[in-house]
Amino acid sequence: MDEPVIAEEKSLDELLPLYQAVGWTAYTADPDLLRAAVAGSSYVVTARLAGRLVGLARAISDDATICYLQDVLVHPEAQRRNIGRALVNAVIERYAAVRQKVLLTDDEPAQRAFYEALGYAEIRDFGPGTLRAFVRFD
Ligand SMILES: CC(C)(COP(=O)(O)OP(=O)(O)OC[C@H]1O[C@@H](n2cnc3c(N)ncnc32)[C@H](O)[C@@H]1OP(=O)(O)O)[C@@H](O)C(=O)NCCC(=O)NCCS
Repeated sequence: MDEPVIAEEKSLDELLPLYQAVGWTAYTADPDLLRAAVAGSSYVVTARLAGRLVGLARAISDDATICYLQDVLVHPEAQRRNIGRALVNAVIERYAAVRQKVLLTDDEPAQRAFYEALGYAEIRDFGPGTLRAFVRFD
């Protein structure tokens, strides 16, 4: 079986089918928004199998104090082959000098297992009186 190629790249023609494959309709309903989101990201890393785009992670960062991981997605046909792990590790290595790494994700056991395997901890695990996260959706 082919080994995935993990590399930084931003000019992507095949975004839509990948985002469609994981059912992220908020993006796929507005392809221009998706293109702008990827083009405006600080760092975009992809995974390819035999040249085909099968995974992507992107981060927004000031390269100093904060690294926000916005999307990590792996095509269902390529999941559980450590591609998601390799993508997030590429982001973590790129921003090794940045202390605060944050993200928002769905409250599902698989997501928790995935991000915990990568060294992220849920805010709730810090216990009362420590950290609080806020979000506003407009
Ligand atoms: C979450 C996602 C990116 C994981 O990608 P992946 O390439 O399948 O994950 P990996 O193979 O690198 O898994 C790394 C570790 O995460 C954990 N993990 C990943 N998927 C898991 C699942 N479905 N259930 C339980 N643990 C899981 C495991 O600990 C795994 O290590 P292991 O396979 O040695 O047990 C992928 O399932 C996906 O794209 N899902 C749809 C989009 C999404 O929800 N993205 C995350 C929210 S932003």
